[in-house]
Amino acid sequence: MRLSSFFHFATFGVKTILFGKKEPILGTVIVTDKCNLHCKHCSVNNITAVIYPYEQIRNEMQQLYDMGIRILFFCGGETFLWKDGERNLRDLVIEAKQMGFLIVNVVTNGTFPIDLPEADLILLSLDGDKQRHNEIRGDTYDIIMKNISNATADNICFYMAINQINKDYVRDVCITARDTKNVRAVSFNFHTPYPDTKELALTTEEKAACCAAITQMMKEGAPVFNLKSAFPYLIENRFPTPCYQCVVMENGKLSTCGRCIEVPGLCEQCGYFFVAEYTLLFRGNPKIIFEMLRTYLKYI
Ligand SMILES: C[S@@+](CC[C@H](N)C(=O)[O-])C[C@H]1O[C@@H](n2cnc3c(N)ncnc32)[C@H](O)[C@@H]1O
Ligand code: SF4
Ligand code: SF4
Repeated sequence: MRLSSFFHFATFGVKTILFGKKEPILGTVIVTDKCNLHCKHCSVNNITAVIYPYEQIRNEMQQLYDMGIRILFFCGGETFLWKDGERNLRDLVIEAKQMGFLIVNVVTNGTFPIDLPEADLILLSLDGDKQRHNEIRGDTYDIIMKNISNATADNICFYMAINQINKDYVRDVCITARDTKNVRAVSFNFHTPYPDTKELALTTEEKAACCAAITQMMKEGAPVFNLKSAFPYLIENRFPTPCYQCVVMENGKLSTCGRCIEVPGLCEQCGYFFVAEYTLLFRGNPKIIFEMLRTYLKYI
């Protein structure tokens, strides 16, 4: 991370903590909800299957920038399906950087060739060993691994959503992250139980077992892009929700925290680690502040 970016985030953090401000710093633009996969745990794919036009996305990026947002995520659907004429996802990343966003990340299922060297991080979903991943995501493991090996930069971070199918395979993903070329780290989430995927949710005991496995892997040197100090809050869902420092923009609609904010009762069962990590950080939790500094400076 550049020193100027670090100071920008540090100033934002201090102001937010001291004055209890609710301004956002992290924004996600959904470029399409179209997807080539139909993963078992996912409730947000192919609802409209519209690929939003470039001008619309550009305006949404500008709107987020003008609100003070400096960390931008592109998400979907499948982000690599996005195109408009000659423009593709890489052009959006480059444009976001030129606009002044300090960190630009992309979330992908990894089934398309990966050529995004300008992205700070590519969060690439890997949901277990080959068998569990393919059970959730269809027969995609081998093509993903091939795409990672051929990627044009080492900016990949695995993104694992832990659920009833893959809860015993946290260790496998940590080891794959440690041993795979072009992969920097792994970041976890617990399944967030939308009404149509409730059966995949983890119990408190199962979440505790997963966090114990992640902690053990961290001790053994696995590159985990999460904050251990947030685990007790995640296990018992006792972190504040929603996260006012995060917003999502989907087809012109701006929501606080996530597009899931309107699903009744979901925030109390939220499994997204970033929500726990950011809300605790901006409440001034000293352990989280220290660990966040150490972790972010290591991986971004
Ligand atoms: C909706 S996908 C969009 C980007 C891309 N298609 C992908 O799969 O990475 C973004 C991330 O959300 C995760 N996800 C989907 N539904 C989830 C849920 N109910 N709870 C937690 N994570 C979920 C996916 O596994 C993926 O890592
Ligand atoms: S690849 Fe991503 S958007 Fe597509 S179905 Fe799977 S989780 Fe959902
Ligand atoms: S806190 Fe609520 S809105 Fe935010 S990610 Fe979790 S479920 Fe979605």
